[in-house]
Amino acid sequence: MTSILKVNSLTKNFQTNIAVNDISFQIKKGQCFGMLGPNGAGKTTTIEIMEGITQPTSGEVFYKGKPIGHLFREQCGIQFQHTALQDFLSVRETLKLFAGLYPKTSDLDDLIQRCNLESFLDSDNRKLSGGQRQRMLLAIALINDPEIVFLDEPTTGLDPQARHNFWDLIKNVLSRGTTIILSTHYMEEAAELCDEIIIMDRGHIIAQGPPNQLLQQHFNEQLVRIPEQKLPKTSIEKLKQPDDFQHILFQSTSFQNDGWVEISTTDVNKTISNLIRDGVDLNFLQIRQRNLEDLFLELTGKGLRE
Ligand SMILES: Nc1ncnc2c1ncn2[C@@H]1O[C@H](COP(=O)(O)OP(=O)(O)OP(=O)(O)O)[C@@H](O)[C@H]1O
Ligand SMILES: [Mg+2]
Repeated sequence: MTSILKVNSLTKNFQTNIAVNDISFQIKKGQCFGMLGPNGAGKTTTIEIMEGITQPTSGEVFYKGKPIGHLFREQCGIQFQHTALQDFLSVRETLKLFAGLYPKTSDLDDLIQRCNLESFLDSDNRKLSGGQRQRMLLAIALINDPEIVFLDEPTTGLDPQARHNFWDLIKNVLSRGTTIILSTHYMEEAAELCDEIIIMDRGHIIAQGPPNQLLQQHFNEQLVRIPEQKLPKTSIEKLKQPDDFQHILFQSTSFQNDGWVEISTTDVNKTISNLIRDGVDLNFLQIRQRNLEDLFLELTGKGLRE
């Protein structure tokens, strides 16, 4: 697959704050490229530089092999992290207003149907639910029929139904060959939609690749989970004494705040047979694969960010 967008040694300083610190990556045509990272990691700054909205301190962005010019922001689709909409206008009027800004537009009826806007076309912008508002903003991002679309946290704050519904819309956009750059704080969303992700932290890229490949690279163990209250007291004592770990386990154990004991193991069979030997009630046992959220927390730490 050829690369449609190339970012070369991008840096952005805001006075003494280095928001983006010498990052490079390529985005392939037709893929969904995910950008993850804690608050303040530099995702929006990077996205706005790629859109041609913010000037980098240094570095370049190439679209189809050529440096992006001032016209790029009219060719791409943009859904900002925060967007103010015109009060007193209906959804239909707003779409027409935005359509009027571009020489070439998508078919509005088709767009309305694809973004599920039919039922609230005549509602005032101020009356929209979170999900309706984000669907309308997606329609606005697609109004110039772009080949590449930037969606900066489009599902933040949506309820689970609205979020899953939005994922279907994104899949529909991808099925037409459109390239999507998506930032999100939802690991499940990245795992579901993205062909490739980068994880940013403090302006750097700290991991990059297809989600499954990243998981395979970082983890070879699985988690066996048991509610702490289901463990016999003797087992808990053994588990809490590091020297005795080998008695029951093969790797490490952690007592979670939610009352579960997590045993990290590369040999589930052996761990379970040892648990049975120790008389542990396995009725509530869970086995969990390590996921993107584990990777994210492992790479970025659990400390609070800004
Ligand atoms: N216009 C600005 N002026 C000064 N500092 C800025 C500006 N925009 C962003 N920053 C700073 O740059 C850093 C990166 O911010 P950015 O908005 O890119 O992060 P983000 O990864 O999008 O975070 P979030 O997940 O909260 O949206 C932060 O420290 C932020 O305070
Ligand atoms: Mg942001």
